[in-house]
Amino acid sequence: MSIERAAERLARAEHVLVVTGAGISAESGIPTFRGEGGLWRGLHAQDLATPEAFRRNPRLVWDWYRWRRGVCNEAEPNPGHQALAELERRAPDFLLLTQNVDGLHPRAGSQRLAELHGCIDQARCTICGAITHLDELQDGDDGLPSCSCGGLARPHILWFGEAYWEGTLDVGYAFAARADLVLVVGTSGMVWAPAAVADQARRAGAFMVDVNPNPSELSDAADLWLRGPSGVVLPELIRRAWS
Ligand code: APR
Repeated sequence: MSIERAAERLARAEHVLVVTGAGISAESGIPTFRGEGGLWRGLHAQDLATPEAFRRNPRLVWDWYRWRRGVCNEAEPNPGHQALAELERRAPDFLLLTQNVDGLHPRAGSQRLAELHGCIDQARCTICGAITHLDELQDGDDGLPSCSCGGLARPHILWFGEAYWEGTLDVGYAFAARADLVLVVGTSGMVWAPAAVADQARRAGAFMVDVNPNPSELSDAADLWLRGPSGVVLPELIRRAWS
């Protein structure tokens, strides 16, 4: 059975790379980007999470992020997040790259973690570039988060069409070169960079396992596709690997 094979490889792996996307948080009640429930006031994320949308209407973009932050902060990590925190404790060498900004991986206890697209709790000044936790920012006269320098703050999140922050991907590519197993969880694989890091690991010889209830851009390339929700598949995988 596929999960048995994946568990065998996982138990033997020295360097485990994990790449997660929105799907791992679906069972915590956070809508995925491209799935059902991904619309807000009839708008797609692709219409809101862009520098152009923020220039055009910063209030609309902040309203969306305030709503999303509320959803994320009320959500709890699910057994999939917890299984990855457990995997980090078991694997000799481990790195988790996530596209998610919801903060559920750190809340589940993951530490060797890179949040490639930023964090929903942080804002960045459009003038001086200072990065601040939203709880520490006051609203300006316009009702929008304002930096201590007086500049308008924006969500510290990588938006569509923006380049990755300098150095962000380097740690991922460096790990990909030595990974012997790469686990891809809950991502459509349509966002180029995280999928490219996972694929780089595969090309460099890592065994690739895709965990997703639906086919993704990476399922064909993967050595194994574990079809199912990550909150069920991941705990079972860890249990079998170390039973
Ligand atoms: N368990 C695992 N996977 C799931 C689950 C689940 N319970 N439910 C849904 N999925 C899968 C879907 O089948 C889909 O392949 O999660 C994936 C979600 O895909 P997207 O919504 O495209 O999310 P993601 O790949 O993370 O891309 C989102 O794009 O908008 C940008 O930067 C933004 O980080 C964000 C990224």
